Amino acid sequence: MKVRSIFGAALGIALMAAAGTQVQAAGLVKYTVVEHPSIPESLTKGDPVRGRAAVINRQKGNCLACHSIPEIPEEQFHGEVGPVLDDVGSRMSAGEIRMRIVDPKVINPETAMPSFYKLEGLHRVAKKWQGKTILSAQEVEDVVAYMLTLKGSYSN
Ligand code: HEC
Repeated sequence: MKVRSIFGAALGIALMAAAGTQVQAAGLVKYTVVEHPSIPESLTKGDPVRGRAAVINRQKGNCLACHSIPEIPEEQFHGEVGPVLDDVGSRMSAGEIRMRIVDPKVINPETAMPSFYKLEGLHRVAKKWQGKTILSAQEVEDVVAYMLTLKGSYSN
């Protein structure tokens, strides 16, 4: 964040309390976690149509492995490990959804949900994922944009 680099380290601690905790890792877009927890500022601009595709893609979000998403009736198998994602767009803010996707362990250290935009603190990372996040910053925002469109109960 620009403000912090201008004021420098002396004001850093005070501003951190007000502006949240910055998370920075090599090669990743820097982001700020505020109390809730939530990541209110987007990493980049997202697209809901691409997000829907990333959610379905088994190599990307693979969200259907654990979640039922009634808005995606054309996919046959929906998981039941996590809650049904039908109206998250009306229940959760973009920042809360972004937090959940980037690093859900901040919300619940015991969660089964993977951290989709994180390199450190991961366990048993398969070779092809080493040094890579599961989703790119662009894909995170695409998925957030798609989640925000889920506002109803769908009948299927
Ligand atoms: C391995 C299983 C798993 C995968 C894969 C997974 N999730 Fe989750 N997710 C969970 C669980 C379990 C929860 C329940 C909350 C918790 O564990 O803290 C959850 C919670 C959520 C929530 C909060 C829902 C609510 O009602 O509070 C959202 C939003 C979410 N997941 C989105 C996603 C998206 C988007 C993807 C794909 C990019 C995804 N999840 C992939 C397991 C998973």
